[in-house]
Parts: sequence; structure tokens; C-alpha cells
Amino acid sequence: MIDVQQIKKDFPIYENDPDLVYLDSTATALKPRRVVEKLEEYYYHYPANIFRGIYKISERATAEYEETRDKVGQFINGDREEIIFTRSATESINLVAYSLGRKIIGRGDEVVVSLMEHHANFVPWQVLCFETGADFKVINSPQEITIPMVTKAVTKKTKILAITYVSNVLGVINPIKEIVRAARRINPRIIIVVDAAQAAPHLKINVRELAVDFIAFSSHKMVGPTGVGVLWGKKAILEEMFPFQYGGEMIDEVAIGKTTYANLPHKYEAGTPHISGVIGLKEAVAYLDKIGFDEISRHERNLSAYALKRLNEEFGDNVFVLGPKNINKRSGIISFTFYDFHPHDVGHLLDEDNVAVRVGHHCAMPLHTALKINASVRASFYIYNDRGDVDKLIKALIRVRNVLGKKSVNL
Ligand SMILES: Cc1ncc(COP(=O)(O)O)c(C=O)c1O
Repeated sequence: MIDVQQIKKDFPIYENDPDLVYLDSTATALKPRRVVEKLEEYYYHYPANIFRGIYKISERATAEYEETRDKVGQFINGDREEIIFTRSATESINLVAYSLGRKIIGRGDEVVVSLMEHHANFVPWQVLCFETGADFKVINSPQEITIPMVTKAVTKKTKILAITYVSNVLGVINPIKEIVRAARRINPRIIIVVDAAQAAPHLKINVRELAVDFIAFSSHKMVGPTGVGVLWGKKAILEEMFPFQYGGEMIDEVAIGKTTYANLPHKYEAGTPHISGVIGLKEAVAYLDKIGFDEISRHERNLSAYALKRLNEEFGDNVFVLGPKNINKRSGIISFTFYDFHPHDVGHLLDEDNVAVRVGHHCAMPLHTALKINASVRASFYIYNDRGDVDKLIKALIRVRNVLGKKSVNL
């Protein structure tokens, strides 16, 4: 079982702000001391560029950077050449849309996404389709992605299916393995891109078992530094794609008449990367692995179940909870709206009680539009949250009700 009090001691923010009720890990996770110290270690002890130096501190930085690639590969069961470091999950998805999409997509082809996608896994595909004349199809999934929805949307013309593993709004964990099987039965050559930004911090990911072609996630959502993303892709496909950016480090030979490119993974890592951030990610992976993903998932699901029960007890029919009712389909994310209060008013009042939640459309406007709401309140739970945090959230929401009363607002 997760000992939250012990875990809290690993996160320096709680020393500086002991009363903080942080319920916005879906936006970004807090950082444990060992991650922060690793960044400091780089800047204090070997702040050199990687690959280029034939002196000790550059060699140390290169070794730490490449060791992270090994660790991230082991973390998701991918090979080291298949791990590309980017700036974010957003950049990882853009890389695939650009480097693969522009190679294989044309008029008459289809790209399928779902309604619940974060804009990061929606807009790059939408733009690709608009630019190439391909059909942009959206699975109508206001709660969860089911197999019949997938088999209805995917056809033999579908070249790419891009879907999220865990929705950052609905909290639903989509059945990726089953979706992959269903899609490949219709088109065995379909490329499947999974947005794992909300999965990698919470669930054990095994890319071989999922049998997908690409997954993308961000370091900062899994207690690692900001400014670092990961793209895992199947080697055979990565080898065929266009480079994403051109310049230093991604080349093999450059002549006036011709440039050849570096082998994987460096072909996709042009320029000086976020060296300290990547090195810090290694510590984040080690930290989460030590706690264990079975424990993490169980802990979050328990907190979600408790929060749903408490919300229902206190607010009953006045609260609308987004996403599936079945707790086994959910992660640690709960988005809701009150019929009487605007989410932004709720968010401001919660902040007065030092309860940090996210309000707005959470970069999922098509989903909110389909649900006929402009915004929602999102509380998300992670390893450093406990039932006490849920109780504080509920107490603060009761105060919101007292302050705002039964005023009706137009959402
Ligand atoms: C499901 C999902 N995908 C993609 C992203 C984009 O992540 P980043 O901003 O780190 O690129 C987010 C961020 O909230 C997300 O929740």
C-alpha cells in the first residue's frame, strides 16, 4: 500500500507549502527531491554538451543522457533505438504527423481520431488532413471508446488511427489492446498512434503487448522535468519516415550536393536537446518504478471511488460527473460541473482554500462542445494525495455552495 505521508516527504513543495491540496497532476505532476537534485547535479558537476566533447564532463553528460534512453526503453519494453527524446508529448505527436503523415497520407485516405482527444492528438491530424485532402474522421466518444465505435469508424482506407489511452477529462482508460485488434482486423496495415500522456504516469505500459506503432508521453506528468517528451515508435517505420527537423546531430554526412542522416534514434534529435531534463527523467522513472504501477493504479482508483462517493453524498443530482460510472474503467481523474455554478468561480473559491484544481476545457474543446458545456472542474489524484485531500476538496466545495448559493448561471 502507498504510504502517502512518507511519499509527501519526498516532494519539497510540501515543506514549503504544507497545506497545499494539489489536485492538478493531470496538468503536471509535482517533482520529488531526487529529480530536482539530478538537475542540480548536471549543472553543478558536468554541464557540458553531449556527443561532441572528448573530455570527461561531456562524456559523463553523454553517458547519463544515453542511460536515460536505456531506462525509458526498459520502462515501456521498447528498444533503445526506438526511443526519441522530444520537447513534449505534443511534439512527439507532431513529429509523427509531420514525418510519417506527410509521407503516407494523401487524398482519399482517412485518419481517425476520437472526440475525447486532447488538442495535442487532434489538431496535428486535422491539419494533416486539411493539407493533404485526406478525410479527418472523429469517433463520437463522449464517455469512452468502445470496439463497435472503432469498427464503425475504421475502414480499409484508414491509414492512421490516433487515440488516447487515458482521457485527461473523462478519466476513462480505453481498451487499447482490444481497439488495436479490432482496427487491424479491418485494415492490417493501419498505423496506430497512442497518446499515452495520461497513461505513462499511472499504468504499466508495455508497447509490445499493446501492439501499437507509436506512443507519446511527457516527462513532466510523471514527476520528471518539464520540457522533455518521449516518442516510442516501431523501428521499421521510424527508419522510413522523413526527419522532423534538420541540422546538427541528426546527420551522417553533409555535402553541398547531398545530406545523409544519422541512424536511429539520432535522426529525430536535431540540435542540442534538453540535456538536464532528459537526465532528470531517469530519476523520475526510477522513482515511479520503485513504488510500482500496480500500487499506483490501485491507489488512484481507490481515491477516485472515494471522491465519487463523497461528491454524490454531498451534491447528489446537482453535480454532473463526466466519464463512465464504472470505477474499473477510470483512472485518478474526475471532471465535473455543477448545474448552478460556473467552473471558473468554483476554481477561484477552491484556490482560496489552497485546493488546486483545473477549470476550463482542458484542451479538449470538441469533447466539451459535444457534452454541451463550455468548461468543467477537474480534480486529479496521484501518489501524494490521500483521502484527507478528497475531504478537503469536498469541504471547500461545500463552502463554494454556501458562497455562491443557488444562483443560476448560463454555462
Ligand atoms: C491526454 C493528453 N495528451 C497530450 C497532452 C499534451 O502534453 P504536453 O503539454 O506535455 O505536450 C496532455 C496534457 O495535458 C494530455 O493530457
